[in-house]
Amino acid sequence: MKFPSWRALLPLAAALLAAPLAASAEDIQAQPPPFTEGIFPCSQCHDKAGDPAPRQLAFHDEIQGGFKHGAPDRWCLECHDNGKRDFLHLINGKKVPFTESYQLCGQCHGDKYRDWKVGVHGKRIGMWNGKKTYFLCVNCHNPHNPRFKALKPEPPPIPPQEQGR
Ligand code: HEC
Ligand code: HEC
Ligand code: HEC
Ligand code: HEC
Repeated sequence: MKFPSWRALLPLAAALLAAPLAASAEDIQAQPPPFTEGIFPCSQCHDKAGDPAPRQLAFHDEIQGGFKHGAPDRWCLECHDNGKRDFLHLINGKKVPFTESYQLCGQCHGDKYRDWKVGVHGKRIGMWNGKKTYFLCVNCHNPHNPRFKALKPEPPPIPPQEQGR
C-alpha cells in the first residue's frame, strides 16, 4: 500500500488541531449537577474500587430498579468510575467531573450534543453575545431513565380577573 505524502495530510492535521478550539469543554459554564442532598461526594462511602461485576445491589435500589437507558445489560461502571467514584469516565477511560457530564452523553448522542452546544437543544441562559450558563443534559434528563418526562410545571399564572376573589 502506498501512503499519501505528509504534505497531503497537512490540511487534515490542521482541521484536527482547530476542531477543539471551536467549542472546547472548558468554555462551557453549566448549572450544578442535580444531586440528591447528601449523596456527593460519593467517596464518603466509596473510598476504594468495588466489585465490578453486575449484580443485585444492596443500595441505590431506585436507580437499579428504575434503570432504563439503552441496552438492558448495561452496567453502572460504563459511566461511573470504579476507583474514583466522584468522577464519571469516557469510553477511552478519561475521567470527567460531574459538572461536565455532557461529555459523557455526547459520546453516544453526538447530534444532540452539537445542538446543545450551539443552543438549539436544551437551554442556556445569559447574554446572547457574552457568557452563557448551560443547563446540563441531566438537569432535564435522568441519566438512569432519560426518556423525556415533563418537568415539574410552574404553577399557572393567575388571570387578573381571578385575583383577589
Ligand atoms: C449512562 C451513564 C450512567 C449509567 C449507566 C449509570 N449512571 Fe449513575 N449517574 C450518571 C450521571 C451522569 C449522574 C449525575 C446526575 C446528577 O448530576 O444528578 C449519575 C448519578 C448517580 C448517582 C447520584 C444520584 C442522586 O440521587 O443524586 C448515583 C447514586 C448513581 N448515579 C448510581 C448509579 C448506579 C448504581 C448505576 C447502575 C445501576 C448507575 N448509576 C448507572 C450516569 C450514569
Ligand atoms: C451512604 C453510602 C453511599 C453513598 C453516599 C454512595 N453510595 Fe454507591 N453504593 C453504596 C452501597 C452500599 C453500594 C452497594 C454495594 C453492593 O451491593 O455490593 C453501592 C453501589 C454503587 C454502585 C455499583 C457498583 C459498585 O461499586 O458496587 C455504583 C455505580 C455506585 N454505588 C455509585 C455511586 C455514586 C456515583 C455515588 C455518588 C453520586 C454513590 N454511589 C454514593 C453506598 C453509597
Ligand atoms: C454508551 C452510550 C450512551 C451514553 C454514554 C448515553 N446514552 Fe443515552 N441512550 C443510549 C441508547 C443506546 C439509548 C436507547 C436508544 C434510543 O432510544 O435512542 C439512549 C436513550 C437516551 C434517551 C431517550 C431517547 C428517546 O428516544 O427518547 C435520552 C434522552 C438519552 N439517552 C440521554 C442521555 C444522557 C442525558 C446521557 C448522559 C448522562 C446519555 N444519554 C448517555 C446510549 C447512550
Ligand atoms: C432544558 C432541558 C433539556 C436539556 C438541557 C437537554 N435536553 Fe434533551 N430533550 C429535552 C426535551 C424537552 C426533549 C423532548 C423533545 C425534543 O425532542 O426536543 C429532549 C429530547 C432528547 C433526546 C431524544 C430526542 C429524540 O430525537 O427522540 C435525546 C437523545 C436528548 N434529548 C439528549 C440530550 C443530551 C445529550 C443533552 C445534553 C448535551 C440534552 N438532551 C439536554 C430537554 C432537554
